[in-house]
Order: sequence, then C-alpha cells, then structure tokens
Amino acid sequence: MDQVRERSSGLVIAVSKGRILQEALPLLAGVGIVPNGDPDESRKLIFETTEGQTKIVAIRAVDVPTFVEYGAADIGIAGKDVLLEYEGDGFYEPIDLKISACRLMLAGRGRVRNDSRRLRIATKYPKVTRHYFARKGVQVEVVKLYGSMELAPLVGLADYIVDLVDTGNTLKANGLVAMEHIVDITSRLIVNKASMKIKHAQITDLIDRFSAIIG
Ligand code: ATP
Ligand code: PRP
Repeated sequence: MDQVRERSSGLVIAVSKGRILQEALPLLAGVGIVPNGDPDESRKLIFETTEGQTKIVAIRAVDVPTFVEYGAADIGIAGKDVLLEYEGDGFYEPIDLKISACRLMLAGRGRVRNDSRRLRIATKYPKVTRHYFARKGVQVEVVKLYGSMELAPLVGLADYIVDLVDTGNTLKANGLVAMEHIVDITSRLIVNKASMKIKHAQITDLIDRFSAIIG
C-alpha cells in the first residue's frame, strides 16, 4: 500500500477512469498538474506529472474512496453517487469540483402499480435507495445490479430503477421516464485524513488552487 507513497514526497491523486477523468484532466491542468500520458488510453496505472513528485492513478470509480480512506492515495476525485454509497468515512470532502453533473433518479415505465406487492427496485445504489424509501416510509425490495439498470423494468426484473440521469437519452431510448428526483450529483475532491495533517501545506495549497478555478 505504501509503495507508491514511499517513492514519492509529492501527492498521489486517484481519479475515476472514464467520464470523470475526461472532465478532471482539464481541471488538473488548470492547477498545473498534467500526467505524462493519457490515463484512459494507456495500460499503465501510475502516471508521473508535471508537478514535482505528484502522481496520478486512474482507477475504477467505486475504488477511489477505498484508495483514499486507506491512504494509498492522498487525494481522490470521485462522483458524489459513489461517495454516498461508500460505507467508510476515512476522508474529508473539501470541494465540489462541479464536473460530471447528473441526477440520481427513480425511473420506470410510467405506470403506477396498484396491487399490494412490495415494490422491487433495481439499482447500483442500494444504500441510497434504501435510505430514500425509508424516509418516505415505503418498504421496497432492492435488487443490486452493476450496470444496464434500464433493462430491469423491461424484462420484469424490477418495477423501477434508481440510476443516474443526465440528458435523459438512455431512459428515452428504453421507453422509461424519470419519476422522482433523489439527489443532484457532481464530482468531489476527497482527502485522506492523515494526509491532511502530514501534508497540510501542500494539500491546502492544492485545494486553494482548485477553488480559484472552479466557477
Ligand atoms: P466502471 O466503468 O468502473 O464500472 P462506471 O460505469 O460507473 O464505472 P462511468 O460511467 O464513467 O463509470 O461513471 C463514473 C462516474 O461518472 C459516476 O460515478 C458519476 O458520478 C458520473 N456519471 C455517470 N454517468 C453520468 C452521466 N450520464 N452524466 C454525467 N456524469 C455521469
Ligand atoms: C450512465 C447511467 C445512465 C446514463 C445516463 O451510464 O447509468 O445509463 O449514463 O445518461 P443520459 O441521461 O445522458 O443518457 P453510462 O453511460 O456511464 O454507462 P454504464 O454505467 O452503464 O457503463
């Protein structure tokens, strides 16, 4: 775990691969941190950067909070959807980077069921879904999926889904409609608690630089 950090007196920044990385790279460039390769294209996992000993690791979205909580990365960039679903709390969340904006929504085929059977909801976000329905006082059965949630109501796996919606094109393409807005989502900067103490000056300087370029 400490191998990357021992070699580095700089920071290790863990970024979600995929769409967040694409929006995070211009932000990182805006604060002077440019990787020496394209983390989305390369098979390499650790990238040196233009900022001293600072390194970028590009990893799966759901793994970013784990890397940061365990101190394998000092800083992470991850979607609020992933952070809400994560069980630990071993990091600070000092800035909303305002990238990869979307909404977590309840969606379905538009019909409301009127029998007494418990509603079944398919989602990649069981924790958020259970909280949402518990607050409404509605008992639901939650089915965990890892992708293609939109298929679930079409094949009778679930009555509704809880999933991310941006343009609404994916719902529309599958004959589904957004029914309830659960929470707005953007990507956040997260910081390991020990790193915040040990590398305080370096991290607060970086936070200030991000804050200065975020609208
Ligand atoms: P993996 O490929 O590792 O399974 P994933 O499919 O969740 O992860 P992405 O689709 O790149 O990876 O999504 C990563 C993050 O991007 C999500 O956690 C969310 O914060 C954000 N995101 C997902 N879908 C959208 C969208 N349609 N519009 C804007 N942001 C989105
Ligand atoms: C996300 C989300 C929706 C879609 C919503 O999927 O799970 O399926 O984006 O975006 P839209 O409202 O603009 O159509 P993504 O493209 O990340 O694919 P995956 O998670 O199924 O891999």
